[in-house]
Amino acid sequence: MNIQNVVVFGAGTMGHGIAEISALANYDVTIVDVDEDVIKKALQKIEWSLKKLESKGKIGDYKDVLSKINTTTDVNAAKDADYVIEAIVEKFEIKSELFRKLDKIAKPECIFATNTSTLPISELAKATNREDRFIGLHFFNPPTLMPLVEIIKGVKTSDETLEVTKSFAKSIGKDFVVVKKDVPGFLVNRINLRVFIEATRLVEDGFDIEEVDATAKYRLGMPMGIFEVIDFSGIDVVYYASKVMKARGFNFVESKLIEEKFKAKEFGMKVGKGFYDYPKAGYFRVKVRRDKAYRISPVKLMAPAINEAAWLIRNDVASKEDIEKAMKLGMNYSIGLLEMADNFGIDRVVNALNEKAKEKGFDEYKPDELLLKMVEENKLGKKSGEGFFKWKFKKQCFGYISYEKRDKTAWIVMEREEKLNALDREMWDGLHKALNKAEKDEDVSYRYHW
Ligand code: NAI
Repeated sequence: MNIQNVVVFGAGTMGHGIAEISALANYDVTIVDVDEDVIKKALQKIEWSLKKLESKGKIGDYKDVLSKINTTTDVNAAKDADYVIEAIVEKFEIKSELFRKLDKIAKPECIFATNTSTLPISELAKATNREDRFIGLHFFNPPTLMPLVEIIKGVKTSDETLEVTKSFAKSIGKDFVVVKKDVPGFLVNRINLRVFIEATRLVEDGFDIEEVDATAKYRLGMPMGIFEVIDFSGIDVVYYASKVMKARGFNFVESKLIEEKFKAKEFGMKVGKGFYDYPKAGYFRVKVRRDKAYRISPVKLMAPAINEAAWLIRNDVASKEDIEKAMKLGMNYSIGLLEMADNFGIDRVVNALNEKAKEKGFDEYKPDELLLKMVEENKLGKKSGEGFFKWKFKKQCFGYISYEKRDKTAWIVMEREEKLNALDREMWDGLHKALNKAEKDEDVSYRYHW
């Protein structure tokens, strides 16, 4: 199917960015919004962004790109569309109403894609007589910069619609992951919510916000702390998304901390106050102290997210490769979540979940069958040579000291977090053995000790 005319509904935060990247990919683009003012502002933002690209030499004359974009408040603009992307308000009734109208206006072969974050794709599709040509195309904010989209199959989405959407995503410069079943929160938001909730629970249990964020940044290699991410996303956004996901069956006990912040209207960076205080409303980075990173176990922080990933794999919602890609490209993780799990050891992940289940009594901590099966089969991660993935090297342990050889590098890691890696006799003994091993491993050419 040849796409030339792309019609974007909604000129707000997401819509104008989607329109811009579509025009940059040489499509004829029409933006439709009910609000003239929003359209005006959207065009100004697109022009500003295109001028910036021109000044950096990334595009030729910005006016050529801008001329590919038309705007209107008239829904009939969809009549020539080959591909419709809906990015209007996140309300089921309003979206359904629009799709009902569009179904009558648009050509029969036109594909409808929705950018919804939380609503069921298959239910929205029912407003039309083209459920096979209806799909989820979930961008990340800002669409101009974020390299990933989630493509979500509804129950009746055809393979052809999926293939056309994959090509469309590629053509606008996006990498994609396929969410094979329309589950609440799709892939990234399901995993994120598990991380967010665990982060708030650790705080409810007595750790401080900075300790959680320092653990994420300095021990898990994340570019931002978890609370920084929540403040950046908007506490109201996380609150509403979690409510909708819960209503649709996502199993979790709500976070008291998020509820409190929401009620106090401390929505995060955009209002100047959230989990952190900011000098004023806008985008700011907080300083997170490194010495705060050592009281929280990274395994405990991430175990619920890994459990969620296992659920997604076992239920054939997403592939392992797509889970890794999604968290790296969508959330800027420095390594994939499943590789993280393989580093921790699947047995330790299961233990962390069991401990938490016992402590809290929440069903959501029940280890997924897949994780239990992996432990049973000794697929424990890097230390046994196979976990979610097969690894070329094995991990060897000398007491609490682990030794890994990755290509020509020996990694010697102290792994007794609960005792803050205090250097007692047992630890020295393990270190001594590990260092000796590194000396003997002839092809080890670089050595890191810490
Ligand atoms: P927004 O509030 O900035 O923009 C929505 C726009 O839709 C408004 O300009 C409004 O005037 C317009 N609108 C409302 N009814 C309309 C109709 N019937 N026809 C045409 N335009 C109409 O919202 P935002 O943040 O851009 O979100 C849009 C969609 O994208 C939502 O479904 C949201 O869940 C989803 N999304 C949002 C992300 C974000 O970070 N903001 C990220 C990923 C998805």
